[in-house]
Amino acid sequence: MLRKKYNLFLIISAFILVSCDPYSKDKNKISIGFSQSISEDDSWRKSMDYTMKLEASLHPEIDLTICNANSNTQRQIQDIEKMIEKHLDVIIVAPYGSDSIVPVIEKAYKKGIPVIIVDRKVNTPFFTAFLGTDNVEVGRIAGKHIVSISKANANVLEIRATTDISPGVERSLGFKQIMDRYPGIKKVSITAADLESLNAKFSRALDSLPKLDYVFAFNDNIALQAWQVAKQKGRENKIKFIGIDGLNGPNGGIQAVKDGMLAATILYPTGGSEAIKLAVKLVNKESVSKNNKLATVLIDSLNADIMSNQFDKISQQQSNIDTQLKVIDKQERKYITLYNLMKLLGFFSVAIFCLALFSVYSVISIRRKKRQLELTNQKIKNQRNQIEKFAEKLKISNEGKINFFTGISHEFKTPLTLILSCVESLNDEFKSKSYNVKKDLDIMYNNSMRLLRLINQLLDFRKIESKNFNIKVSKTNLWFFSKNLFKEFEREANKRNIEYTITTNDEDLEVYLDKNLMDKVYYNLLSNSFKFTPDGGKIEIKINKNLEKNSVEITFKDSGIGIPKNEINEIFNPFFKGSNNYKNGSGIGLNLSKSFIDLHKGTIEVKSDKGTEFIISLKLGTDHLDKKQIINDVDYVYENHDEYFDIEPIQDKNQLVEENNKKYSILIIEDNAELLEFIAAKLSDEYNVLKSDGKNAAETALEVMPDIILCDLNLPEKNGFEICETLKKNILTSHIPTIILTAMDDEATYVKSLEAGADLFLTKPFNLKVLKQSIKGLLYNREKLRYYYTNNIGELEVNTLGIIEKKFLNKIEALLEKNIDNSSFSVEDLANCLNISRVQLYRKVKAVLGIGVSDYITNYRLEKSKELLKTTSLNISEIAYSCGFTSPNYFSTTFKSKYSISPKEFRNNK
Ligand code: FRU
Repeated sequence: MLRKKYNLFLIISAFILVSCDPYSKDKNKISIGFSQSISEDDSWRKSMDYTMKLEASLHPEIDLTICNANSNTQRQIQDIEKMIEKHLDVIIVAPYGSDSIVPVIEKAYKKGIPVIIVDRKVNTPFFTAFLGTDNVEVGRIAGKHIVSISKANANVLEIRATTDISPGVERSLGFKQIMDRYPGIKKVSITAADLESLNAKFSRALDSLPKLDYVFAFNDNIALQAWQVAKQKGRENKIKFIGIDGLNGPNGGIQAVKDGMLAATILYPTGGSEAIKLAVKLVNKESVSKNNKLATVLIDSLNADIMSNQFDKISQQQSNIDTQLKVIDKQERKYITLYNLMKLLGFFSVAIFCLALFSVYSVISIRRKKRQLELTNQKIKNQRNQIEKFAEKLKISNEGKINFFTGISHEFKTPLTLILSCVESLNDEFKSKSYNVKKDLDIMYNNSMRLLRLINQLLDFRKIESKNFNIKVSKTNLWFFSKNLFKEFEREANKRNIEYTITTNDEDLEVYLDKNLMDKVYYNLLSNSFKFTPDGGKIEIKINKNLEKNSVEITFKDSGIGIPKNEINEIFNPFFKGSNNYKNGSGIGLNLSKSFIDLHKGTIEVKSDKGTEFIISLKLGTDHLDKKQIINDVDYVYENHDEYFDIEPIQDKNQLVEENNKKYSILIIEDNAELLEFIAAKLSDEYNVLKSDGKNAAETALEVMPDIILCDLNLPEKNGFEICETLKKNILTSHIPTIILTAMDDEATYVKSLEAGADLFLTKPFNLKVLKQSIKGLLYNREKLRYYYTNNIGELEVNTLGIIEKKFLNKIEALLEKNIDNSSFSVEDLANCLNISRVQLYRKVKAVLGIGVSDYITNYRLEKSKELLKTTSLNISEIAYSCGFTSPNYFSTTFKSKYSISPKEFRNNK
């Protein structure tokens, strides 16, 4: 569109430029062509051309073109032809001869072009007008002049024109007519072929005519030439020379008369100016006579001066006119230049105006387009917003579905744990009994485990997808780790007669692994190998430390069905199933394995020729890992395969636990009644089990103050975090070790549990052995602390004590210190001061320090007395009363039973 407008603009501009072209032909001008026969060297012809131009210049409308044929008739014909072709308004011809030019004259005339013949005549009537002097008359004037001077008695020589041209013939005729009338005049004539041959001819004629009175020549030039010859012979003064033309000027006939070289000259006007006037008349369609005569006159010594003066004046005027014309011409040129400038200016103004219009138009159309674009933009924005809203809704709904699915999957774990644990228990019971039951139990166990693994895979996949996976690596003996997993499949290998091997080149190699994830990778790769390897086949695991690459390669190779070559690049894609795989499977196992290896910054490759080979490559050391990812894994307990997790052997723990005759109490907080009952049943042999379904759990804990708490996370009222936090903040329960037991196994939950004050984090499905061991471990640690406190009373600034415990004990100490000499300050008084019940105080002190409150008070008094015995000179009874003993005797007995030494002896020994 814009291009079209631009083109239109160019066309308009071009049109404006053409219309102001100053050189274009103006149809209003009168075009006159003048064909001159003889060259400008001839002064009479020159005068003719000049007067013609001068006259034309007085008419600005005349466009005069002069063509000179240089005495060449053919060329003159061609010139006229061209004028006809151009169809000039008038053609003026000064012919050379009278015949050969006739056809072209007639042609022009017949074409309707006015033709004016000047000076010489042509032998045709087909021309418009003739302009010239009567040459017969000219001849006669010359003759009459001789007669009048010589009184009809003289010798005369006539010098004729060279060729048969009309002036020559007619002048000679007129001269002869007069001469013939006077017999006393002797006349001879010669013909001048050209001026050179004339000299010789005239010289000879002079010699033959000793008495010659007159010479009459065809024109002034010939007459003067003859005069020169006569002068050479010294006869110039005796002969009178008469010429024709009578041109004014230094070399003209009039001057020659004035100089006495010519006796007379007959004026023969060129008719240049008259010819132009005639042409204008013809163009203006004015009536013009066919024959137009020019006047003539004889100029001799009597009128030469006057004539000369007259002609000079005319010349002067002509020259003035010429100057004026030149000035006018100059002005005209200036005017044209200015005019053209103005035109140009006009053009530019128009162009600028057009551009301005165009700009305005452009601005308007751009605005319109902008508005349209804005509208479209708005529409797109609205659509985008709608799409975004829709996508958001979709996301929310999707998220809801996935969360539901994830929640459900988590929910699967608890029943599965129960089933698995039941099966395990049953398996123990039926160990030596019915083979069939055991077989059934195996099937139940294996399938439950399979379900559990599938659920875990789904949950892992979700976590990987939502980029929620954070690995926790710990230093692991790869050989030990791999061998344990290898063992898991040994039974199946034996059963199916599969040659199943594991080898390594470094049994001590330690690699930083997330055992939980790597366990899944091994399990997945081995399950696949066993799935696709036929009975009697071969499966091998090779561990190869590569020192050069500072890495380890773990190869899983089988002799199974292999993977089709064209599918090998796809096997790590989620939900991919090989075309030769007809077995059941989730299709995400390999994808997950690859993701887990990626999280370790390792690689997993697959080769398949005969069978399949997976090569895992892991970097050694920790440079490739984030420091936050490295853990000491003893405090992070994983699901399943308890044999991998090095639970520190607790020295003397059984001994310690057994030493205390009383069973420890455990509070299990779990809303799943079956699981609650299951765990309670499993722990009731060793512990005094207290149960809570999650409602009022914290209150129950406060009431019963158990030795240890096992708490689920998702509970009906407060969740596990809240309960844990409440108990850990409460002075009465803050010391109780708490285990969080949950199906949520992500890092965030783990961290949150620790923040809430949990001492241990176990994930479902848990292994009963691990649970029992963990409980024992925590109680053992608590026991160790108690032992420490009991033996360090008075030095409780130890860092191992919790802040709340420290505060609590400091408070008790301050109260005891305050009442140290008050023997009636009882346990009730202390409980009252602390704002708790006697039982609660008892349990707290017992839990933290392992002794009863009254024992604690007595111990405190004794410790104080010890100090006084050491540092003061107070006597025993004074010390006994000041430390709150009712009598010095009672003080001494108690002191001795505690320290096996009497106060007196103690002082003496110090
Ligand atoms: C010039 C001229 C004149 C003469 C005229 C006749 O060419 O010879 O001298 O008068 O031509 O045509």
